[in-house]
Amino acid sequence: MKTGCLKLAGYKVLSFDKISSTQTYAHDMIAQGKASDHMVIVAAAQYAGRGRYRRKWVSHHGNLYASFIFNSPERDPRLSYAVAVAIAETIISYGVSPQIKWPNDILVNKAKISGVLIEYAGRFVIVGIGINVHTNPTVPEYKTTRLDEYTNVDVTDLMSRLVKNLDKFINADFDSVRKRWMDLAAGLNRLVKYRGEMVELIGVNDNGALVVRRGIEYLLVHGDEISM
Ligand code: BTN
Repeated sequence: MKTGCLKLAGYKVLSFDKISSTQTYAHDMIAQGKASDHMVIVAAAQYAGRGRYRRKWVSHHGNLYASFIFNSPERDPRLSYAVAVAIAETIISYGVSPQIKWPNDILVNKAKISGVLIEYAGRFVIVGIGINVHTNPTVPEYKTTRLDEYTNVDVTDLMSRLVKNLDKFINADFDSVRKRWMDLAAGLNRLVKYRGEMVELIGVNDNGALVVRRGIEYLLVHGDEISM
């Protein structure tokens, strides 16, 4: 059921009580030629929420589920850092201290509170964001948590703060995003696993590649190849 009650400055919002997945809906809009820049699909719940690595994103009522559509004729690896910083700053605005786990998982006390799925389709990019507010699923892969374990949060207020931060960091110069990402990153200067070897996580370069050190060699890593 379409509810359409949410208004966000500069965005065309399509909101639903429950749909399969805001991300899948965004893909359908693009495929049907109905998508436009700054369209956002929001749902109060999803019955087929999708995560990275083809995982499910369990999506009960009470959390934030949104897929933002932006024009993007080309892939931009820097986008995922801007999105992670925007979510982290939104959580910080409630007095809660998050960390970013590369590339854009958001953790509080080492448990995942938010995930991001970035997918390109046609001339658009879809930025799917889930933030646990009132419920957190138990999943085998990692520990999870939710915002109301730390503070009182209204999902509509959370969404409007998130949108302001997305606008701010997506449009900011990448150097400031990169620096903020590194301030908030978990595992910086620690050992992480890359192609079966332990390497030191050094930071992010100007183009959004991850810099790691293997002995005296510095390597640039793209894609999802690091695990912590
Ligand atoms: C992850 O695996 O960490 C990414 C999770 C992304 C979940 C969001 S919720 C809104 C959007 N719709 C989906 O089906 N997935 C994304």
